[in-house]
Amino acid sequence: FFSRSGTLANRSRVPPIGFAFDIDGVLLHGASVLPEARRALSILEGDNPLNRKIPYILMTNGGGASEKDRSKRLTEQLGFEITTSNFMQSHTILKSSTHKYANKPVLILGGKGDVLRKVAESYGLRQVYTTLDVKAWNPNVWPFHDLTSEERTSAKPIDFSTTPISAVFVFHDPRNWALDIQVMIDVILSRGIIDRSRPVGDATSVELIFCNPDLLWRSEFPRPRLGQGAFREAFQAVFKALTGAPYPHVQYGKPTKATYDFAEKMLRARMKELHGASVVGPDIQPQFYMVGDNPESDIAGANAAGWSSVLVRTGVYDPVDGPPAHNPTHEAENVEAAVRWAIDREV
Ligand code: G3P
Ligand code: MG
Repeated sequence: FFSRSGTLANRSRVPPIGFAFDIDGVLLHGASVLPEARRALSILEGDNPLNRKIPYILMTNGGGASEKDRSKRLTEQLGFEITTSNFMQSHTILKSSTHKYANKPVLILGGKGDVLRKVAESYGLRQVYTTLDVKAWNPNVWPFHDLTSEERTSAKPIDFSTTPISAVFVFHDPRNWALDIQVMIDVILSRGIIDRSRPVGDATSVELIFCNPDLLWRSEFPRPRLGQGAFREAFQAVFKALTGAPYPHVQYGKPTKATYDFAEKMLRARMKELHGASVVGPDIQPQFYMVGDNPESDIAGANAAGWSSVLVRTGVYDPVDGPPAHNPTHEAENVEAAVRWAIDREV
């Protein structure tokens, strides 16, 4: 398991190391916990030759709930304490960028019912609307969906003819792509007033923000599923067919630099929390390991951030499809093998 001899003293001088674990396809398949996930985390929780906790965070392009609720659920699933200090999801990064829209009407997409509206409000957004609110305001906006009683109950009554939408945030994977694409196009082409036919002002006045670029992700189904990146492609294809060009948008989520910078800050804070300020001093460069299943997000982002990357075969990536689009530092069967390889390399 740990091939290096080395004395404990040598081992105590091991450079600080930290891990970032992707969730879907690495630790979970949908609601199912991969058996090796708990074994991998128990090694980092202290069952290792360093006889100390090795800091880690969970870093997912998933979302749809508050960080508090999702980390509580992950604690129950994985058997180790996951909190908001070692868990980040696709839209967590928005907490630091919603201030400019705090008092402006915004449209948010994704998730189920009213959950994400409450998450967006907890991020400081005060005028948060959904495409179901638009459908409830004027059912003719999209004739091919009838609101369920639950959707009607959670809809917020508002007159969108006098409510200028200033930004569209795609927090999580939309549930009704047709309604959502129709309303996004109405908002953008009308510069915010959904039923205005003669828009005025800058054609890109409505900011569009996506939180997860994943074309594919691994759930319980044996083959990868379409992710928020596929929704983005569908929207942009329709928008380009209508206007001749795709609409400019901001992209967060793995592999973007913004998301990996955010993760590095969280991981350094976690290292400091566990082992004191000395392990993350300005003259110390910790060794970060990303363990992921998606070459396009997990491996590409880690490589660009200068981390070591480990690609596992339990998710989107399948070696039978040929070499990965982005070469990892190492390829491993699963997350436990990935952790054992990384620690053996460091000790
Ligand atoms: O919606 C979740 C999916 O896009 C990927 O999640 O945990 O593999 O980054 P994850
Ligand atoms: Mg994944």
